[in-house]
Amino acid sequence: MIITIDGPAGSGKSAAALLLARRLNIRHLDTGAMYRAVALDALRQGITQDPVAMGRRVAEIPLDFDFSTRPARILLAGQDVSQAIRTPQITQITRCAADNPTVRQAMVQRQRRIAAESQSLVTEGRDQGTVAFPTADCKFFLDADPRSRAHRRFLELTRRNVPADENQILVDILQRDQQDRTRRVGALMQAPDAIMIDTTPLTLDQVVDAMAAHVETHSAKEART
Ligand code: DC
Repeated sequence: MIITIDGPAGSGKSAAALLLARRLNIRHLDTGAMYRAVALDALRQGITQDPVAMGRRVAEIPLDFDFSTRPARILLAGQDVSQAIRTPQITQITRCAADNPTVRQAMVQRQRRIAAESQSLVTEGRDQGTVAFPTADCKFFLDADPRSRAHRRFLELTRRNVPADENQILVDILQRDQQDRTRRVGALMQAPDAIMIDTTPLTLDQVVDAMAAHVETHSAKEART
């Protein structure tokens, strides 16, 4: 079974995807981490400003997931970079990877390969239900009011003792929305057959409950046919 979860930054999809995968005891794939790792690799290679070199490099990037833990660990040349890809600098430059059509094509191929190797998968990102897995069993699109997304991010950073300015976070979120929604290839959009969940008034558990209920209904329907 393939379950896709797409949505903008701060919609709560990463936490919800991970919890859903735990509840169903299946693999969780964070495709944003893949673009982040490609950006980190490009930074190390000094090619972030060179889309052609990035397109050439992508075929040979030693990028792997270790699914023996949940969340999975992301490995670059065998080194665990799960934390290194979460810095503000990498968040900023990941655009160089996500906007590159050659990189996107290679990432989608890898995502499909991972799905083929997995019995079941919860995969989250921006284009999972539209481009990577158009025939997925269950598709979700999570969204929330930008102010509420900024507030959540602010609370999350404050909890981790990272200094944060909520207004600046809101500005960054709106800018990322614009980038994600207007990308030439793999733009963020809701698949026509995706279930939309507005997470603004919901707790994380309520979001996961709603998704799990849909998955159960789908499985019951499949079992009857
Ligand atoms: O979800 P995230 O913030 O970790 O994603 C990092 C970046 O990668 C973000 O700018 C959107 C982009 N992305 C994408 O273009 N397609 C995906 N499937 C996942 C993420």
